[in-house]
Amino acid sequence: MASTREGVHCEQLERSFDSAGVRQQVLKGLRFDAEPGQLTMLIGPSGCGKTTLISIIAGLLGADAGHLRVLGQELLSLDAQQLLDFRLRRIGFVFQQYNLIWGLSAAENVAVPLVAAGVQWPQALERARAMLGQLGLGEQTHKLPRQLSSGQQQRVAIARALVHDPDLLLCDEPTAALDARSGHQVMELLRSIAVRPGRVVIVVSHDQRVFSFADRIAEMDDGLVVRVEDRAVAPSAYPMESSR
Ligand SMILES: Nc1ncnc2c1ncn2[C@@H]1O[C@H](COP(=O)(O)OP(=O)(O)O)[C@@H](O)[C@H]1O
Ligand SMILES: [Mg+2]
Repeated sequence: MASTREGVHCEQLERSFDSAGVRQQVLKGLRFDAEPGQLTMLIGPSGCGKTTLISIIAGLLGADAGHLRVLGQELLSLDAQQLLDFRLRRIGFVFQQYNLIWGLSAAENVAVPLVAAGVQWPQALERARAMLGQLGLGEQTHKLPRQLSSGQQQRVAIARALVHDPDLLLCDEPTAALDARSGHQVMELLRSIAVRPGRVVIVVSHDQRVFSFADRIAEMDDGLVVRVEDRAVAPSAYPMESSR
């Protein structure tokens, strides 16, 4: 039975893709849980289905079979409009390649989801600037993405995912393109977000440098979660990586 707690709970989740006439089952009856107030890290080899899983949890992709309860909602039973409303109000997603809009400033990029949710541009921009300020980018709000470092671009993408104060934040490989110091800063930021009561944070990573930031590590292999490790995290105990 699906839990009624307001985390993320998947059971028997299946998803296949057809490509060039060949059907490939990518999620094979998977079980996965993530709890509020924790940072859950999803790890596993390239191609094992991590992005597929978090895209389904985010409502960006459908599942073929199974149960999926997200923040108390049976996600797979929503119609397209209900799903869009749910996503715009409650879910933030940080894409692996950031997906920033190159012709818009940092503040305009962050304002986009608010405008999509019906907020007027001036108010949206004001909230976007405040969010960027909280993430240490108060001086960069007018800059275009190409005028920012990759660590700063990643923080803009995180600001855009957080600006509507979502209850669930999903991040796909947030440190993959970053050096050790920027990666460490981004993970500290994600942890500080995760420990807020009620918020669920799921981070996909295969960057061993950042495993120490997880409360729970779920390891995937070939379409299944094969191992779950619950860890005691002492924030002061993080080793600072030396940056090159
Ligand atoms: N839209 C798609 N169409 C066809 N195959 C896909 C699609 N998305 C993912 N796949 C395949 O599903 C498998 C898992 O992909 P993915 O979830 O991106 O893995 P990971 O994020 O763990 O690297 C891969 O073999 C990939 O080629
Ligand atoms: Mg992936």
